[in-house]
Amino acid sequence: MSIKIKAWNASDWREGPFLNLFIDEKINEAYSELLVDIKKKSMLCDLATVRYDTYSQVDYSNEFIQKYYFLKYFFGYLGEYYFIYSKLLEEWEKVDNFNILSLGSGSGTDYYGFLFSVAKKRKLSFEDTIELFSYKGIDAINWLYQPTEVNYNFETCTISNIKDIIPETNIIFFPKSLAEFSNSDCVHIKKVLNKTNFSSNNIAIINAVNDSSSSKCLGRIKKICEVFDKKYTCNDDREKYFPYAKTGAICKRNSAFQYPNEIKEDIKFLFNHCEKWKKDKDTCDEDCKDVLGQEPIITDNYFKFQILKFERK
Ligand SMILES: C[S@@+](CC[C@H](N)C(=O)[O-])C[C@H]1O[C@@H](n2cnc3c(N)ncnc32)[C@H](O)[C@@H]1O
Repeated sequence: MSIKIKAWNASDWREGPFLNLFIDEKINEAYSELLVDIKKKSMLCDLATVRYDTYSQVDYSNEFIQKYYFLKYFFGYLGEYYFIYSKLLEEWEKVDNFNILSLGSGSGTDYYGFLFSVAKKRKLSFEDTIELFSYKGIDAINWLYQPTEVNYNFETCTISNIKDIIPETNIIFFPKSLAEFSNSDCVHIKKVLNKTNFSSNNIAIINAVNDSSSSKCLGRIKKICEVFDKKYTCNDDREKYFPYAKTGAICKRNSAFQYPNEIKEDIKFLFNHCEKWKKDKDTCDEDCKDVLGQEPIITDNYFKFQILKFERK
């Protein structure tokens, strides 16, 4: 779905009502598609794999799973990425073009986090915002629900197959993805970064993580950042995640963030749609009901990220 800018005038679009409508449309689109699949399948066992703990192994190539993942995480991650970029832009007041590389970009949720955040911070029209940045997403899977805006670029590619990075890149984002890469992927990405002749005086490395993998990601990001140490200085702490005050519901930070209530309630009790569960609960996995009985992420309790800003020496 592309943002329907026609219905909004330039000063309206970046403000609350537009963001609110955008979220509503995206979630409704995924929800109606999920319901179609549910009717066809009757068993929801696949969806119970969408979890991030020691047992997790999510098959992102399955579109049924992508739809459920989207309904569970898009809202919370958009809130987090929006918040991350608001922080970065507060400190990068003088930077005026942004070339984002997102590794493990999925549906491109971080694209929208940047789009809405920069438009609001810089008070830009939709057209001016689009011109201000470029975005390249890379993921092993060609996900549903990706942006269709003109400055959005995407390549289906595994990390170990990345050949080069454009030298103008000045934001490298790992949106909940770094933990899922293999060790050799991480070695490879470091190699490719090392041979890139970055042209920008300011570079930001952003690492957004799931709690269950946060220590693994700290080790990885430390190694990756060594690439920049010769030519750049960085005063941000690589050993820690960003300290921020939790406020609870994301809508307390920004009232435009409203998860459609009926959909939220249905996702919270999704196991009720499972014919297998209804007929013979006893043979179902014990924790299936727990996973399919979770609310989508709507609070900032899950925010966990690093923003590491490098400046040319
Ligand atoms: C937890 S999901 C995050 C998706 C998205 N960034 C978001 O914010 O919702 C992790 C993503 O990393 C991708 N991924 C995992 N290993 C990968 C690899 N070796 N190469 C490319 N993408 C990979 C997966 O396909 C998946 O889209």
